[in-house]
Amino acid sequence: MVTRDVTGGAPVVVLDEIDSTNAEARRRAEAGETGPLWLLGLRQTAGRGRRGRAWETGAGNLAATYLFRTDKPPAEAAQVSFVAALAVADMLGQYAPAKLVSLKWPNDPLLGGLKVSGILVESGASPTGGLWIAVGIGVNLARKPIDAERPATAIATYRDSPPPSPIEALEVLSGAFDRWSRTWTTLGFPAIADAWTARAHGLGEACVARLGTETVEGVAEGLDGDGALRLRLADGQVRRITAGDVFFGGA
Ligand code: BTN
Repeated sequence: MVTRDVTGGAPVVVLDEIDSTNAEARRRAEAGETGPLWLLGLRQTAGRGRRGRAWETGAGNLAATYLFRTDKPPAEAAQVSFVAALAVADMLGQYAPAKLVSLKWPNDPLLGGLKVSGILVESGASPTGGLWIAVGIGVNLARKPIDAERPATAIATYRDSPPPSPIEALEVLSGAFDRWSRTWTTLGFPAIADAWTARAHGLGEACVARLGTETVEGVAEGLDGDGALRLRLADGQVRRITAGDVFFGGA
């Protein structure tokens, strides 16, 4: 384990091998660690994704978790997933054509319309008070997963030169994360929602929302004030989607 200082950002703890950087963040948070810090796993043996899925981290891909403590109420703190998505979008635009980068609700960064990254936010009560928040970010830098349920891609596909290393990519990501965090703090969630909307994938298009046991079809209209997705149903009513997976034609 090595700790590196990224210029101006939170320290980065580099772990050669770990089950899951989110699991490690939870262990540290429950032991009283408040961060802010980044945990970077060069190899993840049990990476996890949203809704109980596994997340495969191929060699050379980014697997990192930002751990911090907050006094915000849980619903507000959860908006950090949009901050993270914007930071990933900026990072992707540094290494691949920016015009191919988009964000699918709630927080799936896409490259050329295909999933290239995943974000998993977990939280709990901090023993020091308030909440600990772990923002886990996986990015396919070098290779796409072998067993992806949906079509996926990697940054390397869009480059003639080698993709960035996980450490280099995290330095860029960390800087972008800090900038969007400051926007969130100074201008509030509306500024984050506007920036997210400007990069949104599929707004105005028909989609299917899978919400656990229920499936809902409608047209994705945009974000509500709290980050919920506004889905216009066939009968004209608006359904607020607060959790689930959304699928458009291809992604
Ligand atoms: C998704 O299902 O789209 C979210 C995937 C999140 C994966 C990242 S990789 C780093 C961190 N550690 C984990 O175990 N998961 C997240």
